[in-house]
Amino acid sequence: MSTHPEINAAITTQRLIEMKRKGEKISMLTAYDYSMANITDAAGIDVVLVGDSASNVMAGNSTTIPITLDQIIYHAQSVRKAVKKALLCVDLPFGSYQVNADEAVRSAIRIMKETEADAVKLEGGRTIKESVQRIVSAGIPVMGHLGLTPQSVHQFGGYAVRAKETAEAQQLMEDALLLQNSGCFAVVLEKIPAELARKVTAELIIPSIGIGAGPNVDGQVLVLQDMLGINKDFSPKFLRRYAALYDVIKEAVENYVRDVKGGDYPNEKESYG
Ligand code: KIV
Repeated sequence: MSTHPEINAAITTQRLIEMKRKGEKISMLTAYDYSMANITDAAGIDVVLVGDSASNVMAGNSTTIPITLDQIIYHAQSVRKAVKKALLCVDLPFGSYQVNADEAVRSAIRIMKETEADAVKLEGGRTIKESVQRIVSAGIPVMGHLGLTPQSVHQFGGYAVRAKETAEAQQLMEDALLLQNSGCFAVVLEKIPAELARKVTAELIIPSIGIGAGPNVDGQVLVLQDMLGINKDFSPKFLRRYAALYDVIKEAVENYVRDVKGGDYPNEKESYG
């Protein structure tokens, strides 16, 4: 009997880098709970992200800022039980890594020990360089996140496309290379011009995963509930809806309410003798 249990993920960080090298696109979606993660993993997704967007999607907050380390760990523990094949990456929430690199490493270690995730994700470039390097040195794979970084929404003054001007585009390119040199295995590029995303992707040997960054990146990520059409109010240009679950679920609940109130549910077959 082996004394080294197999690593949970069939998809590793090395495999993702190899996928980029071979020109194979990477698919990534968020999941925050066991049931959705189970379906997502069974459908063959490459990367599952326990995103801090759980703050909006699961808790109804207007930003990602309120979610805590304890809360993201709770979500990730549920998702871990379902994810067998995909690489499982967990967001470090706002406030769990910005103060200093010591705290960043401590937060990342908590996530790895308490959730058995495969990797963590942090937002930012040069300002978090030391934190990324220290987390990587601790043996924890790190995914970067540049462009529209939602934890900085108040600094940006909203969710508009980032890096349209030359100076910010240049800074983003430098930050992407800096994250790669600091040991990141991949980088999310959120809501930036497609041409900039293409150029950054061409410069990197690690994969770029786009959201609102056009087609010329190494992979795509969406929030699961957005692409399933559960939230009707959120419809940015980049979003493609693969289902209309808001309507499907609402109709099912309406039918249930009708059957309960009309005495049709439960019937004899649905009752115990
Ligand atoms: O939290 C999240 O859902 C994310 C993705 C949009 C990349 O960070």
